[in-house]
Amino acid sequence: MVGAGYVGLTTASCLAQLGHTVVGIDVDPIKVHRLNNGEIPIVEEGLEAITQQMLEAKRLVFQHGYSDSIKVAEFIFLCVPTPQDEDGSADLTYIREAATSLLPYLASESIIVNKSTVPVGSTLVVEEIVRRDDIFVVSNPEFLREGSAVHDFLNPDRIVVGSSNKRAAQRVADLYQSINAQVIICDPASAETIKYAANAFLATKLSFANAIAALCEHVGANIDDVMDGIGQDKRIGNQFLKPGPGWGGSCFPKDTRALVKIAESAGYDFELLRGVIDFNEIQFDRIVDKVRKAVGGTLTGKNIAVLGLTFKAHTNDLRDSPALRIVEQLKLQGATINAYDPTVANPLPQTNFCETAKDACASADAILIATEWPEFALLNPKEIGNVVRSKHMIDARNILEADLWRAAGFTYQGVGR
Ligand code: UGA
Repeated sequence: MVGAGYVGLTTASCLAQLGHTVVGIDVDPIKVHRLNNGEIPIVEEGLEAITQQMLEAKRLVFQHGYSDSIKVAEFIFLCVPTPQDEDGSADLTYIREAATSLLPYLASESIIVNKSTVPVGSTLVVEEIVRRDDIFVVSNPEFLREGSAVHDFLNPDRIVVGSSNKRAAQRVADLYQSINAQVIICDPASAETIKYAANAFLATKLSFANAIAALCEHVGANIDDVMDGIGQDKRIGNQFLKPGPGWGGSCFPKDTRALVKIAESAGYDFELLRGVIDFNEIQFDRIVDKVRKAVGGTLTGKNIAVLGLTFKAHTNDLRDSPALRIVEQLKLQGATINAYDPTVANPLPQTNFCETAKDACASADAILIATEWPEFALLNPKEIGNVVRSKHMIDARNILEADLWRAAGFTYQGVGR
């Protein structure tokens, strides 16, 4: 497993759990040392336990740098980052570097598996670097959600394997034999497109839900009922319909922009997806507007308590977090921020970072719930009402019982409620 980041680490530990022997390779020696002691650098339910069990069972070990382990590997998974270039396209530097570094060690009949989210055509790029008839390159995208990655790995809706060599594809599919899931074997370009199309569709669904929430506010409908009403239709499905402050994280923003770029390079203007991305920016602004409206039309000199900073609950990941985009805007418009998040250790620049949600609410002119951490749903409106300066609640995740907060004297604004 080349790369022990969120995808590589989860894949390494879970493949070991399926009975395989796995060597996790990373360029960071300190990380490797810690991983071999069972210390996991990310918040990911179940990952620490499974990693420790696999280390103990000696089916998993971490190593620094390429070594003899590649010489005996039947499968080499590439799980290295694919950051974004300034124009939105995915940067393949790490994939190229990893593939080149493997060259001296690769054994005949071994299979290189692209697990990272890579632009359509990347399987071919790796094949061109390797240039050996006895080595195969296969695309096997991941569909893991942060926070439930172990569960998603062991209970997938489908396993996608793309290769121009059917036997190589089947060998990769066989790695997952003990998992009960449908396997889709296709050509590499289709496998790579499936990954982007899945994330683009989910992002579209969310932008649609946020747009319907805005409509609900205008026509006096309730988004919870509306989404329940459409989600029961099996053709639509009831997941990924929760409105919020906009979607974020390390995948959707990066992958949607990359797909627009991939389409553009291939001569297709993906207008629909551009609209979905633009609408998400509008959603951040809509939340800022709600806060500004609550405090009387101007944010200058106002204290805003921001509860939750991570891009979603059950992770410590701040990458492309909607909360940060909103905080940035609130500050630009003159507000002072007191923030709290249960998993973020490092304070943000020019933001007061508090130890508890209640501390963040002290002297607040308004409270914004930006991440759906369950502990925020348990806050006591009376207790919080005693410490704030003005009683305004903006619940950008629709996790509070509006009536309870209104009964305690708060104004309440949700999203589409
Ligand atoms: C996403 C996909 O869900 C995974 O299938 C995929 O493998 C992964 O990207 C990836 O490409 O590696 P993840 O980024 O962990 O997973 O996060 P999600 O749970 O999908 O949430 C993304 C964003 O949508 C978050 O900001 C979340 O708060 C938001 N969201 C999600 C909503 O606003 N409402 C919902 O109903 C669901």
